Amino acid sequence: MDAISPGMLRSASVVADGLFATQAAALYERVRRVVPAAEWGVFVPDIEAILRLKRERNAVVLAHNYQTPEIFNTVADIVGDSLALARKAAAVEADVIVLCGVHFMAETAKLMNPDKTVLIPDLRAGCSLAESITGADVRALKARYPGVPVVTYVNTSADVKAESDICCTSGNAVEVVESLGVERVIFLPDEYLARNVAAGTSVEIISWHGKCEVHERFSPEDIASLRRDYPGITILAHPECDRPVVEAADFAGSTAAMASFVARRQPARVALITECSMSDNVALANPEVDFVRPCNLCPHMKRISLPAIRHSLETMTHEVTVPAAVADRARQAVERMVAIGRGK
Ligand code: 13P
Ligand code: SF4
Repeated sequence: MDAISPGMLRSASVVADGLFATQAAALYERVRRVVPAAEWGVFVPDIEAILRLKRERNAVVLAHNYQTPEIFNTVADIVGDSLALARKAAAVEADVIVLCGVHFMAETAKLMNPDKTVLIPDLRAGCSLAESITGADVRALKARYPGVPVVTYVNTSADVKAESDICCTSGNAVEVVESLGVERVIFLPDEYLARNVAAGTSVEIISWHGKCEVHERFSPEDIASLRRDYPGITILAHPECDRPVVEAADFAGSTAAMASFVARRQPARVALITECSMSDNVALANPEVDFVRPCNLCPHMKRISLPAIRHSLETMTHEVTVPAAVADRARQAVERMVAIGRGK
């Protein structure tokens, strides 16, 4: 067999670097309408490095719809709402999953594909809903309402999922609740999502007091002033908003449902009542639609950046693990959802 000289290795790596540079340059076309050229120059070195590292580590990047456009449209291999990310994480064949989203999403990916290494680029990427409730809180509720099944939003820790009968996302919550065939359920932890689910089903809902710090800030007055300023505008709201906000909107649904509403209906002008990056990403996919952007930033989602993703792949940090005793029970709750909740 011919020996491989250091010179040959060097020229192979120069060719590969050139390839990643060409690939990165071509990616600008995908984001040019929302990323100024001057800003793009800052992103390029990290994008090139991430493309190279993904290949070296046999890694894939999963990104939630709230990730910034330079992440969502360039280095991400799989994108979607919480439900899609949970489903698609199960089918990943690469060795490493880098989850660009918040911690509960990385935990869910680990539950769904326990043999893979799951990394989150910043451990501080939490969620106000996940932080609103513990496993002990769920045990106390079950003692108070014996025999009432527990439906838990995926925006929770694995500890909380492990105490639950089934999980749901905003894309399948009513479907999951009704799949149980009971008269009442404990629905945790989002109080506003619980109200929105209660409006769509005759099942009695016992709720918790968790709230999304991003969506709780929208008010019906915001919707009224949008309608005043932009007559004819179509307004879509996430169901983590309070009930009066959802009632004032034209449509409510998960981030995936909002994206597909815009793609299907092509409204002349639209406002997405949700996290800020969502509008950038949906606008890129729908160039004919005019977006008004009365958004709120999620500080947790915004912890994830290109330098953080690069660092994560360079150092293989931060690995997300779930203790086996918790993982088995939490996985069952997520798998029941995936089997039942088709989503909209
Ligand atoms: P979905 O993408 O499932 O609609 O969830 C929104 C959200 O807030 C996730 O943190
Ligand atoms: Fe949690 Fe709300 Fe941020 Fe989603 S947008 S991660 S629900 S705080």
